[in-house]
Amino acid sequence: MKVHKIAVIAGDGIGPEVISEGVKVLKEVAKLDGSFDFEFTYFPWGCEYYKETGRMMAEDGIEQLKKFDAIFLGAVGAPDVPDHISLWDLLLVIRKSFDQYINLRPVKLLNGAPTPLKDVSPQDVDMIFVRENTEGEYAGSGSWLFKGKPNEVVIQDGVFSRKGCERVIRYAYELAKAQNKTLTSISKANALNYSMVFWDQIFAEVGKEYPEVKTYSYLVDAASMFMVKDPKRFEIVVTSNLFGDILTDLGAAIAGGMGLAAGANLNPERAFPSMFEPIHGSAPDIAGMEKANPLATVWSASQLLDFFGHTQWGERLISCIEEVLIEKKVLTPDLGGKAKTSEVGDEVVKKIRTTV
Ligand code: NAD
Ligand code: IPM
Ligand code: MN
Repeated sequence: MKVHKIAVIAGDGIGPEVISEGVKVLKEVAKLDGSFDFEFTYFPWGCEYYKETGRMMAEDGIEQLKKFDAIFLGAVGAPDVPDHISLWDLLLVIRKSFDQYINLRPVKLLNGAPTPLKDVSPQDVDMIFVRENTEGEYAGSGSWLFKGKPNEVVIQDGVFSRKGCERVIRYAYELAKAQNKTLTSISKANALNYSMVFWDQIFAEVGKEYPEVKTYSYLVDAASMFMVKDPKRFEIVVTSNLFGDILTDLGAAIAGGMGLAAGANLNPERAFPSMFEPIHGSAPDIAGMEKANPLATVWSASQLLDFFGHTQWGERLISCIEEVLIEKKVLTPDLGGKAKTSEVGDEVVKKIRTTV
């Protein structure tokens, strides 16, 4: 039997609450299938670990994680630890060390999910964001000169390499071609006269290899307006690290909220483990209250199943989420219900059993 070895980093705040529902669902899938299984290994890394040890993960954390087939992550961040430390020393270091250069984030309004947009149906909100995930505005390059002095200066560089831009843009073209969808690039070359001019140039260059893919190019300000006013114009979308971060929270807002927004950090070459995580944070405002919606994490679990080739199970999980949303009997407060996090997980498990 094939055993997928999964490193679980539940992390902070609502992370452990939602991740236990994701694990519950994956265990059920393996049990029903019978031809594969998961072996989950838990790592206690995160802000509590930092407060005890001064580190967000073990010193050889990256070495330890290398041995796994995938990482399943809850959320990272706590109000009493500076965010740039907690995120850089755990989440971002994993994305970079494992060259997870594709961040795949569906922005899809499922049947039964709420949207604040008027006269919009699920067919109108059906996008996949391909976010660059290792460089760009998140390269971590810069300096802080004359710190604390009256003449202090900070410089934060954007780093756009040819290799980095080409590979994410090519991935997006391949996806658009395979799915027979349009491809939209989102950039900002009118103001960012080096990085985004370069991005647009590479989008056009790589595009020559894909004459069958219909493309659009939008400036990020206009793109955010169109996502709200006319979301159906977007199908496959490719964009930089920071723009992708911001636009996918906007995407979450129009497609059911943060509790339904999933993401996969992929190393397509499979040289390193990929990482699956809901895109929301540790939500300190609701942590420990059993109010967190675990459906985004279940959706990320579905992306994990797809990545291992169990696509029928991946699709089935999405249908189960949709059934729960349509019935509206067992939902967390963010979706207007009264159910606890674990009750929503149990309901998904019930649906998986009945649809087999
Ligand atoms: P957040 O996503 O944690 O929360 C934003 C709002 O959405 C909050 O009102 C929260 O209650 C709600 N929300 C989020 N997930 C929800 C869910 N599953 N169910 C119901 N409601 C949900 O963003 P934030 O408040 O800006 O950040 C909190 C902390 O998380 C910060 O430390 C931040 O740096 C960190 N963060 C981590 C990640 C990650 O680990 N991937 C992502 C984003 C933010
Ligand atoms: C996300 C998060 C992270 C990001 C933060 C926590 C560093 O917002 O995964 O969307 O910006 O990538
Ligand atoms: Mn984000």
